[in-house]
Amino acid sequence: MIVTRLDDTQLRTHVDELAALLVDTVDSGASVGFLAPLDHAEAAAWWTGRADAVATGQLAVWAAHDGPRVIGTVSLAFTGQPNGGHRAELVKLMVHRDVRGRGLGRRLLATAEGAAVAAEITLLHLDTETDSPAEHLYRSAGWTRAGVIPDYAADPAGTPRPTTLYYKHVGGGTPTG
Ligand SMILES: CC(C)(COP(=O)(O)OP(=O)(O)OC[C@H]1O[C@@H](n2cnc3c(N)ncnc32)[C@H](O)[C@@H]1OP(=O)(O)O)[C@@H](O)C(=O)NCCC(=O)NCCS
Repeated sequence: MIVTRLDDTQLRTHVDELAALLVDTVDSGASVGFLAPLDHAEAAAWWTGRADAVATGQLAVWAAHDGPRVIGTVSLAFTGQPNGGHRAELVKLMVHRDVRGRGLGRRLLATAEGAAVAAEITLLHLDTETDSPAEHLYRSAGWTRAGVIPDYAADPAGTPRPTTLYYKHVGGGTPTG
């Protein structure tokens, strides 16, 4: 199994496998922006829509490959705002249900954090459904819980659920107030 960063061409090449992973993640009940059931074509169109941001460097996407299959992914979204060049948002960390619990989620998280440091990012942030399995991963990887927003997003079944915001200083970044 290898983890690679995809350029826009590679993203388009792997769009069907990425879509299958997104559909599996939504089917698993995880709150990643979509309602269930998610159609494969809709998932593929969503990934295809990311390619331009990858081409311009606003989005970095990694894929974990097991042969031709994509079994995990994570992305970093860089802000285009002049005052936010030091921060990025960690988004769409997903591991296929077949291979969860074997360390891939932690490896993808570490990959994105390492790339953030290399890109001179000093602050990472994310949001995740409160009490989801991902919370344990983020806390154990040194992320700080900033707070909870009630009813932030509907889960795949359509029920509004709270979201927890997390942040992490990386690459020597320290709080200045
Ligand atoms: C969150 C997710 C990426 C974790 O991937 P994974 O490959 O299973 O994670 P790992 O195997 O690296 O495990 C990381 C840690 O989380 C723990 N963990 C994994 N699944 C868990 C679960 N269902 N309940 C509690 N803890 C869990 C592991 O025990 C491990 O902790 P440890 O090292 O202290 O034992 C995966 O569950 C997933 O894709 N979930 C759906 C999408 C999602 O919610 N993404 C986050 C959106 S922000």
